[in-house]
Amino acid sequence: MIQPNIRPHPKFVNVFISGSSEKLKLYTKNLDKGKLIYGEKIILKMDEEFRLWDPYRSKLAALILKGSQKIYLERKTTCLYLGTSTGTTISHISDIVSNGLIFGVEISERSLRQLIQNTSSRKNIIPILGNALNPQEYSMLIYKPVDLIYQDVSHPDQANIAIRNANLYLKEGGMIILFIKSQSIKSTVKSEEIFKNELNTLKSANLKVLEKINIDSYAGGHLGVILEK
Ligand SMILES: C[S@@+](CC[C@H](N)C(=O)[O-])C[C@H]1O[C@@H](n2cnc3c(N)ncnc32)[C@H](O)[C@@H]1O
Repeated sequence: MIQPNIRPHPKFVNVFISGSSEKLKLYTKNLDKGKLIYGEKIILKMDEEFRLWDPYRSKLAALILKGSQKIYLERKTTCLYLGTSTGTTISHISDIVSNGLIFGVEISERSLRQLIQNTSSRKNIIPILGNALNPQEYSMLIYKPVDLIYQDVSHPDQANIAIRNANLYLKEGGMIILFIKSQSIKSTVKSEEIFKNELNTLKSANLKVLEKINIDSYAGGHLGVILEK
């Protein structure tokens, strides 16, 4: 079988690509060799494992494929991840921030248990059982300010969750990557209206919108937003 030509992403550190620009595939280099998280395909190359990053399973991959220019993820980034679920996206972020740290908050005990099983040998993930709407709950565990908040929670109060966590834990000049799902807010109101209201709430809390990208073709009804504190 022909091996895909895996090469570094021209913009994002520790993200890899194969294929032409019309059929681009994304990968991250497996930090936890031999372990898969969600049945993702692995490509072996020069003693390394490249995990195929599925944009239909991970909204961050969708945001990159949709052309985001503002995603901030470096090897040493410290991140607060809200809504980890069982570990699909956080595991790819863990591959990327290989010398950094991720505090991962999840409200569901069952999902958190699975997250721990999936990622226990990853040294850069700290799993936290908590409600992202009440960020003081986990203040004992977040022992330093973060460079980035990544938020993907299915909750009607998405803007307020971002604001409360940014006020407590995000450095000045730090970034937020936030996914707003219109259906989690109100199914009777038009998506555009919901997005506008949430963005206004975020702006009124002094968060500057750097980028807005509709990722509907990968994740129905979702808008990806990147903000700066
Ligand atoms: C869409 S899933 C996250 C998928 C995950 N980000 C990924 O890409 O792999 C949303 C998650 O948010 C969690 N969640 C919902 N409300 C929450 C809250 N208030 N605090 C923390 N997590 C919450 C849910 O339990 C669920 O696991």
